[in-house]
Amino acid sequence: MYIKKVNLENFRNYSRLGVEFFDGINVIEGKNAQGKTNLLEAIFFCCIGKSLRASREREVIKFGEDTARIKIEVQKYYKASEIYLLFSRLAKKTIKIDGIPIKRIGELFGELNAVYFSPDELRLIKDAPEDRRRFMDIHISQISKQYFYYLGRYEKILANRNKLLKDCKDVQVLKETLPIWDTQLVEVGTKIVRMRIDFVENLSPYAQKAHTYLTANSETLGLEYTGGAVLQGKGGLPLEQELQLIKDDLSKRLQKSVDKDIKLGYTSVGPHRDDIKISVNDIDIRSFGSQGQQRTVALSLKLAELEIMKEETGEMPILLLDDVLSELDAGRRERLLKFCAKTQTFITGTDFPKGLPNAKYFRVENATIN
Ligand SMILES: Nc1ncnc2c1ncn2[C@@H]1O[C@H](COP(=O)(O)OP(=O)(O)O)[C@@H](O)[C@H]1O
Ligand SMILES: [Mg+2]
Repeated sequence: MYIKKVNLENFRNYSRLGVEFFDGINVIEGKNAQGKTNLLEAIFFCCIGKSLRASREREVIKFGEDTARIKIEVQKYYKASEIYLLFSRLAKKTIKIDGIPIKRIGELFGELNAVYFSPDELRLIKDAPEDRRRFMDIHISQISKQYFYYLGRYEKILANRNKLLKDCKDVQVLKETLPIWDTQLVEVGTKIVRMRIDFVENLSPYAQKAHTYLTANSETLGLEYTGGAVLQGKGGLPLEQELQLIKDDLSKRLQKSVDKDIKLGYTSVGPHRDDIKISVNDIDIRSFGSQGQQRTVALSLKLAELEIMKEETGEMPILLLDDVLSELDAGRRERLLKFCAKTQTFITGTDFPKGLPNAKYFRVENATIN
């Protein structure tokens, strides 16, 4: 798929913008604070209906204005579609696909798929497990509405269980009531764990390949979903049996931590605490990797995500690369740009070499693009 046209109205620093893009590499050049990231943010908003900057949504409305609009024309293999987002200071945002308002954000998933990468994504490797879970959740939600639904269910059940843990001071009552929530938590949690294991298993060979490629064969990458440890060494079981193993394991973990949870006042085990363990040449990259290694691993994960999205949806997603080239050495840069040729790419930066193959250049200056 690719984006044909982006229209913005009062979005961030843009008053009015209408630009047709190229289905190859779109080089978005400009000095700092001109609107490059804002453009990518607008595009990514149309993928998941949320901001990639974890800010309050109304902040996207241009200072002094009441509403903001994004309109994006997308071309897929067999159809074209138009995604429209309206933000207002007074009302909830509206999303329309081909002119028809959607009721739930889940309906937007799959209309426009993109992978976003910026130097901030180093968080994915360095920071708390939360970022890695978000990575999985955003990805799997884009390709499975069912997963998005399970996540919502899980969060509700978890919130109820946590509320009980926090509010109820009677241990006897707690021990009698918790199992009601546990049954539901395990039921939905099992589905989430199963889909995440699948995701990491699918991602792994592509991430390894991307990493080997970016590092010119000097490093080997390993990925493992911690919540799937129970299936370790049990490859090839029928799905039903695998689900049962995950379920039993989750139940057991919940039961084992019940006293701890009561003491803490929240649920300390489950998919909301799982993680992806990442190693390079068998060494834990989070604790022992260099900054450069971590950066390359983050990029490999994102490039792999692109490939499995294609496998899962039949369409190549769009690649959004925000300010990443300056952070890579010359060899990795060149290999990354070669990789970009596979799909429509928006790549921002302050300056680029002239004459990149299969690329069109756009200059962003004070919220205008030429
Ligand atoms: N709601 C808003 N209204 C007007 N300007 C905004 C708003 N939000 C951010 N900006 C401005 O957008 C500019 C940053 O744009 P950005 O796309 O991040 O720049 P860059 O080209 O460096 O990526 C800043 O000058 C910031 O003040
Ligand atoms: Mg920027």
